[in-house]
Amino acid sequence: KAASLTMPCTLGKTLHHMQILHSIADLRAALQGSRSPAFVPTMGNLHDGHLALVRQAKPLGDVTVASIFVNRLQFLPHEDFDSYPRTWEADCAALQAAGCDVLFAPREADLYPQPQTFKVHPDPALADLLEGHFRPGFFTGVATVVMKLFACVLGQTGGVAVFGKKDYQQLMVIRHMVRQFALPIEIVAGETCRAADGLALSSRNGYLSLEERQEAVALSQALKRLAQQWLGTAPSDRSLLETLTLDALRARGWAPDYLTVRRRADLQPATAHDGPGTLVALGAARLGSTRLIDNLEF
Ligand code: PAF
Repeated sequence: KAASLTMPCTLGKTLHHMQILHSIADLRAALQGSRSPAFVPTMGNLHDGHLALVRQAKPLGDVTVASIFVNRLQFLPHEDFDSYPRTWEADCAALQAAGCDVLFAPREADLYPQPQTFKVHPDPALADLLEGHFRPGFFTGVATVVMKLFACVLGQTGGVAVFGKKDYQQLMVIRHMVRQFALPIEIVAGETCRAADGLALSSRNGYLSLEERQEAVALSQALKRLAQQWLGTAPSDRSLLETLTLDALRARGWAPDYLTVRRRADLQPATAHDGPGTLVALGAARLGSTRLIDNLEF
């Protein structure tokens, strides 16, 4: 029998139960009575940013579903799939406290009983730049698992799915996928949660040493400065501004992949005509062995 267990949790006076389901069949059975689930996919190691997405999802559906699945397909061979933090007990407790009704936590054999030979390849015009340039195949891995998770969680009904803006390009890839395949799913964006000093919350922040954690805020500060200076800089000098921003981070000991201003609409380089309210500064950089990303709309 497929494992399925119920965790009771006292929320005020009501006893809230979160069902934990591993198999697709059990998940579908549990969602039979739902007309419109609200879904938050995650890879676990949950922080306040994830939990904010769960709370945001709650009023958007008649049942709130989260998933935890560390998706091998979206990691390059040299990346941190094996060491990616897995914090099952704490994640369950946190989801339950946030009011999640159903946790779908497939094991690899549940989600990929056969090798996933059909894949979703996003438009290279969107998926081969920025993150996709530095992590080739990443968005194919993401789109493929998200399509599959959508089929499991929302395939019977359609519904709503909430994705954080911290993974800005991922959010855009998923929006395009949903539109292009006419999936009956509404994608809702959640704002980035930040620590008191401004560092965007991320599971990978846990890799930082104490010293690195103090330095880590420099990425969001660099993006903030880039955004602030962009509109006051002559268009002909803006690529120099990006280079100087990269150099400044490098001088602090970072190894940046990119720090750049793009159009929100298509993530193409901003032109002289793109004004305030249409732009986003995006960055990815390694601090020690930890790769962090962040962005700022302006
Ligand atoms: O953003 C994430 O945590 C992952 O990329 C996602 C969307 C859960 C797919 O594995």
